Amino acid sequence: MSSYSIITYGCQMNEHDSENIAGMLEALGYIHEEDPWSADLVIMNTCSVRENADKRFFGVLGQFKKMKKTNSDFILCVCGCMPQQPRIVEEINKRFSWVDIVFGTQNIAQLPELLEMRKKTGKKQRAIIDNNPHIAEDEMKPVRMHQHKALVNITFGCNNFCTYCIVPFTRGREKSRMLAEVVCEIERLVADGVKEVMLLGQNVDSYKDALGNSFADLIKAVNEIAGLERIRFMTSHPKDISDEMIDCFKSCEKLCKNIHLPVQSGSDRILKRMNRHYDRKRYLEIVDKLRAVCPDITISTDIIVGFPGETEEDFEETLDIARKVRYDSAFTFIYSPREGTPAAKFEDQVEDGVCHERFNRLVELMDGISLEKNKVFMGREVEVLVDGPSKTSENTFSGRTDGFKLVNFTSDKKEENISGQLVKVKITETKTFSLEGKEI
Ligand code: 5AD
Ligand code: SF4
Repeated sequence: MSSYSIITYGCQMNEHDSENIAGMLEALGYIHEEDPWSADLVIMNTCSVRENADKRFFGVLGQFKKMKKTNSDFILCVCGCMPQQPRIVEEINKRFSWVDIVFGTQNIAQLPELLEMRKKTGKKQRAIIDNNPHIAEDEMKPVRMHQHKALVNITFGCNNFCTYCIVPFTRGREKSRMLAEVVCEIERLVADGVKEVMLLGQNVDSYKDALGNSFADLIKAVNEIAGLERIRFMTSHPKDISDEMIDCFKSCEKLCKNIHLPVQSGSDRILKRMNRHYDRKRYLEIVDKLRAVCPDITISTDIIVGFPGETEEDFEETLDIARKVRYDSAFTFIYSPREGTPAAKFEDQVEDGVCHERFNRLVELMDGISLEKNKVFMGREVEVLVDGPSKTSENTFSGRTDGFKLVNFTSDKKEENISGQLVKVKITETKTFSLEGKEI
């Protein structure tokens, strides 16, 4: 029997693609091997959102060459966002021509065929098709990372073309799955023990299926699924979020009181150059609406510092919006030019030193706010969906609250009796990135 191992970089779309790939390989009889250095087949599922990913990727790729010497049947596949860039495929073909299979984000369903061709003919296989009309999502039988929670694609691709972002080039044009298809998939997942679903799309708010169903319609339909406990989604786009969607935080009891709402910058001038189609006033109005409908809602965000042309004044506007919103958490990034995107050609790139200095100031502010927001949980009882044993210390478990707060807690229960369950925890300590407590 042959074994397989998957190395996944990047976002939840990639994680879910890896779950689907694992499902296909297990259907072919491959068995999972945690350690890629002991596997007969290695899949590298890559990300290209930021630049350092390229260097790391080629470094790891180079190291796999020695596997070919020790195991003559060893097969290496590269997939995900990297091979969607022609220059990356050229480089693989030139410098790493021994890579067996390369396939694109819209060619995942072809993997069994590519593997067979590779074995039969001994020839390298390359399959990268843009805007593949056939998305085989319904035929997939993913091997899930967690038994109790599942990732569910609702849209593929992105049409927004934010000027810094490579995703519209690597994942193609936006396509929405039919509402009924998504509901069917979630019903099957619930029958299989799933309690929480994460609806995935680059911009879930622009979801629209062929019958005209909106994202709010989809949430309302998923909320009706008996046995499902929690609904999450990501990512929202402030330009497309609707009042009807915001009202779902009140009307849909399964919808978790949490939203990831990337702001990217607090400066109107920079938001315009980023092609984001909203300004700070509109963004703050959305936050007010969310809090009016759902006072307990937790809000997280993505912020880019050092976007071309960003001045100290622009950056201060970003600090200001962060202070106004008071985010529960934030992912902060230093702008990284991606070849092929408009912003990479902007002439006024910000110096590295300035970027790092701003980045540090932003992180300090965001961490301070996160800690303050977590402090109010001291002594409170929260409900946690348990993911499993905590990674950091023994005899502790970890899980998430409805508002996506990470909770590490002690319990007398055995792992098999608590993982995947909703439990009550009393919070005894609050930190910047987590809450600590004890099961009640
Ligand atoms: N440079 C820095 N950050 C980026 N992101 C996307 N593209 C870039 C880039 N070129 C960030 C955005 C996005 C998150 C997933 O990654 O903040 O929301
Ligand atoms: Fe990239 Fe903007 Fe699309 Fe998000 S919405 S994937 S940031 S282009």
